[in-house]
Amino acid sequence: MNWENIIMLPLYLTVTDKYLKYSYKDTDRNESVKKIYNLNPALDLDANFSNFKSKVPEFFDVVVIMNPIDIEIRDTIVSCANRPIDISLYMENLFHVPTVGIHNVKKYGLQKATDDEKDYAGWHLDYYGTYEGKKQYGQESLLTIGNGYFGVRGAYLESRANDNGYPGTYVAGVYNQLTTFINNQDISNEDLVNLPNAQYTTFSIDDGDFFELRDEDIETVYRTLNMKNGILSTIMYVSLQNGKKLKVTTKKVAHMHHFHCYSLQYTVEPLNFSGKIKIYTEIDGAVSNKNVKRYRTLDHHHLRIDKTEVSDNFALLLAHTRNSHVDIAVSSVISSPNEVEPKIHSDKSQEKIGQYMTFEAKENQSYTMEKTVSIYTSLETKGDLIEVLKANTYHHNFSDIIKNSTRAWNEIWDDEYLEIDGDITSQKLLRMNAYHLTITAHQNVNKHLDVSVGSRGLHGEAYRGHIFWDELFILPYYNIHYPKLVKSLLMYRYNRLDAAKKYAQESGYQGAMYPWQSAMYGDEQSQSIHLNPITNHWEPDNSRKQHHVSLAIAYNVWNYYNMSNDEEFLQEYGLEILLNIAKFWISLAEYDGETKKYSINDVMGPDEFHEGYPGAKTGGLKNNAYTNIMTSWLFKKVEQIINNESSEVLRENFSRSHFTDDDLDKMHDIRCNLKLEYSKNQILGQFEGYFKLKLINFDFYRRQYGNIERMDRILKAEGDSPDNYQVAKQADALMPIYNLRVGTFLEIMKDLGYEVDDEDKFIENNIRYYLSRTTHGSSLSRIVYSMLALKVNDLDLAWKLFDDSLTSDYYDIQGGTTAEGIHLGVMGATLNVVIECFAGVDYRGQELKIDPKVPESWNNIKFNMNFKNIHYYFEVDHEQIKIKANKDTHVIFREQSIDIKADKERIINYSKVALQS
Ligand code: BGC
Repeated sequence: MNWENIIMLPLYLTVTDKYLKYSYKDTDRNESVKKIYNLNPALDLDANFSNFKSKVPEFFDVVVIMNPIDIEIRDTIVSCANRPIDISLYMENLFHVPTVGIHNVKKYGLQKATDDEKDYAGWHLDYYGTYEGKKQYGQESLLTIGNGYFGVRGAYLESRANDNGYPGTYVAGVYNQLTTFINNQDISNEDLVNLPNAQYTTFSIDDGDFFELRDEDIETVYRTLNMKNGILSTIMYVSLQNGKKLKVTTKKVAHMHHFHCYSLQYTVEPLNFSGKIKIYTEIDGAVSNKNVKRYRTLDHHHLRIDKTEVSDNFALLLAHTRNSHVDIAVSSVISSPNEVEPKIHSDKSQEKIGQYMTFEAKENQSYTMEKTVSIYTSLETKGDLIEVLKANTYHHNFSDIIKNSTRAWNEIWDDEYLEIDGDITSQKLLRMNAYHLTITAHQNVNKHLDVSVGSRGLHGEAYRGHIFWDELFILPYYNIHYPKLVKSLLMYRYNRLDAAKKYAQESGYQGAMYPWQSAMYGDEQSQSIHLNPITNHWEPDNSRKQHHVSLAIAYNVWNYYNMSNDEEFLQEYGLEILLNIAKFWISLAEYDGETKKYSINDVMGPDEFHEGYPGAKTGGLKNNAYTNIMTSWLFKKVEQIINNESSEVLRENFSRSHFTDDDLDKMHDIRCNLKLEYSKNQILGQFEGYFKLKLINFDFYRRQYGNIERMDRILKAEGDSPDNYQVAKQADALMPIYNLRVGTFLEIMKDLGYEVDDEDKFIENNIRYYLSRTTHGSSLSRIVYSMLALKVNDLDLAWKLFDDSLTSDYYDIQGGTTAEGIHLGVMGATLNVVIECFAGVDYRGQELKIDPKVPESWNNIKFNMNFKNIHYYFEVDHEQIKIKANKDTHVIFREQSIDIKADKERIINYSKVALQS
């Protein structure tokens, strides 16, 4: 369906509190149909709308709302089930087509109104109305602004940390460790520190109380994150108990170039009175880490405030982290664009500085305060922080700031160009994912920092901001757009190689053993006990046995090298990382004279439900398939590099890594003889002994508990253990097929001496086998299986799993975890699946291999990417692939080599293998 070329088919919708009246043209019969859907009061709106979906025809390309009630904010706001809602948000997510209001249709015509909305919806993340608790927290995570240096949660500016709002601020890499005595033991945790809240801003009238967010005072509110220019805006109509009404408009933006700064604009307009308006703003140092409720029983006060200072329109707060001794300076400069300069005042306490301006306000005129916040820390800034900060104080009027931000984001979106035609919801959410990846790390910023990306971004405090193997899902996206950024992130690992060597040594191994959870220093930050929210009991946590994180790091090093051809990085840093990781696995592998095979013992695979053997006192498993296959892969890659590098480079790297020729021999022997659990039916066992475990009746538990994604918690609460069953949280044995091309995976099976009779059947049987045993308790699960389903051409399943993954943070499908930060891994992986599987441009080898499977509901996918220093543009639809590259090159299309001439479009026509949605 091409928007430009068809005659439009609208669905006209009138929304009332009790029913939806709709009409459309039945094209088969060429007649107009009018119908009514009665809202079922026993169901919530989502359930009602989803029933409604089944009643309307399949094909229409715009919904027109006939009776909007509030056209100023948006002409799709209606009253439904006795409350105002923005029906466009529901309809667009339901039907994936634009929803427009009749006012815009009358004003601009249907085509233009539709096109405008299509563009708008793809760039904006909107929320209408007030929300509470985890819902509000989750939205704040998704409305976070940032630039790789910091993340500032998208809380209302008037919000203080409480159950309905959490204005967290995090700077990448600022961690602190605290110890709490609990359950008769000392528990230490290193947290990404919540920094002083400098976004807090509110107002008062005639020196009365400051305005606080209370449902009864908020008539209506609309929040919009414009991803096109990075600006988060709120329009709030306030109606106070004393009858005074105001319009409060706020804007907030993180600077992409002046990355130490963010700016905000706060505008108050009295709507039915004149009087004294005070706009008040703070730097509040009395903050702690309270985003995650279950962590609050542990010490969470990480900051000490050293100094507060204020003069004229400038305020400064100096603090440090209690144990990691990071100095933090936060400053604020305020001004007003109003013609009559307001009076500026300030007050300060030991932990807080307030600045305010007062206006003699007139009815229906607006009064604005603008503020720029700067944050510097001793991690990235040398010298006296206060001096540096004062010397670099940055503050501009907000309209210039918007221009700058728009320019900066234009460049970003040029770099990260990705357009999906035919599905505005996928477009919006893929952009949202790209936006969050970009504000978590950016190459202009990260070159100054010694950090990597945490699994929950700079958006919340879950997993304490730690860095996991999730990098493996995130870095590919950075690789195709910002190779230099990947280098910076890998340097975080290189800089912690000594810590990883120490960890290996302390654990009785050689080489480098990277921690499962990493933070400031690169030592192990996994908890040893974990709170089960169902039982509220602390249970042992063996997740630190997931040594496969080192394989993910090796994989990321290889991928970066392969995609960027950065020889210098490989020779100076990458190879040393690889050799040390290889040495670790060599030291872990044990030879069994009887079977003549090597075993790797005492590990956990990615499936965290299995921590050990049934009834065993200590955790750990033998011969985890993922670990052994990826170890064999790593050894082969190291051999390949060794064969290609000069003897001088090798001598240097071997000497730095204490890697010997003997290691080389062992490596070869191990890589061909690692043991796998393999059944007669050619099912790859997740680990040794896996087939002896009991099967689980999912339906039984589903009937009892509804959601069984976290089957581990359910079983533990029943006094049972997931260790006893064939049940998985996420992909494990088949994870290698996410990382590697199927051919590479099968070669490894062969290298290891395991026969595969029929390759397609083998993949299909194994995927079906594990899918029926997986509950998707991790956000990283469905997206991996989506990719796997595509491998066996189960297009419906692939789409369903993709769609669930794409919407997982948007709908917070884990029931509250988005409140504690976004899930960066799945966000990266969805983008990866779009490019690598749907557009089918597979960049995991020496050459780009192309084989598209474009989803049925998408018209085409357009994007650009870098591969081996060549910039590509792709346009892929159901029958054609257009390729443009800036240098002469070639790609492999379904085993056939296709030459591409520099700057000349090449078209490949292909027969359609479409994905149903
Ligand atoms: C997943 C891990 C992941 C971690 C952090 C867990 O729930 O099982 O694979 O690394 O979350 O995202």
